Amino acid sequence: MKRFLIAGNWKMNMLPTQAKQFAAQLVKTSKSIDDDVEVMIAPPFTALAEVKEAIKGSKVKLGAQNINENEKGAFTGEISADMLLDIGVEYIITGHSERRTIYQESDELINKKVHSAVNHSLKPLLCVGELLTEKEAGLTHSVIEKQISKGLKDISRDGMKKIIIAYEPIWAIGTGRVANPQSVEEIHFDIRKIIARLYTKDIAENILILYGGSVSVDNIDGLMTKPNINGALVGGASLKIDLFSRIASFRKMI
Ligand code: PGA
Repeated sequence: MKRFLIAGNWKMNMLPTQAKQFAAQLVKTSKSIDDDVEVMIAPPFTALAEVKEAIKGSKVKLGAQNINENEKGAFTGEISADMLLDIGVEYIITGHSERRTIYQESDELINKKVHSAVNHSLKPLLCVGELLTEKEAGLTHSVIEKQISKGLKDISRDGMKKIIIAYEPIWAIGTGRVANPQSVEEIHFDIRKIIARLYTKDIAENILILYGGSVSVDNIDGLMTKPNINGALVGGASLKIDLFSRIASFRKMI
């Protein structure tokens, strides 16, 4: 059966009090969302505890936007897997294009972060996606294949049960320029083929592949009807409770 995950990436937005209010409202909405749709929000680290408290006992899940690849020690300003687990985090966004470009995170570092998450039973969302120039040069497949094979290097078959892929074309993030659902579908199908080659057909069929990049109330339904799209990683529209609630409730509309 097809499963979905609707994830909100708040980036560097929301004070803890605002986050708590938002989460409490989302809990109400989530009561009428079907069981095959999971809803997650990834607040900034400073709001994780408030959100965790607000979503207690509900089906809304907690995510974090980053993780350090080391266990512990002299890494000023960083947050470890154990710290996130202790606070109740379940999902970790890794390889986001903002981390790749602004903070120069390489595929090798992202791979270490993915390992750290999997080793601690956290579920990493591995973000992949091409630049506009790469898309125009016909390089989408090779860019994604490289990001996936390097990002998942040495992740075991068992570890793959925890992995989620988020396809986020960089030219669609925060631009209002959403990728066409049919071309997203084709790229997701291609991602399943890449995973099947690296692992097994079964793993490829079962992995969740989300789309991200200017997801909104206007395009969510069209995207979710496509067989290989298992949900969305939502940035801007995840900051407004009415918009995010509507996006998470897409099932009623399709
Ligand atoms: P956007 O961001 O929805 O604002 O385009 C998506 C993301 O960065 O994950």
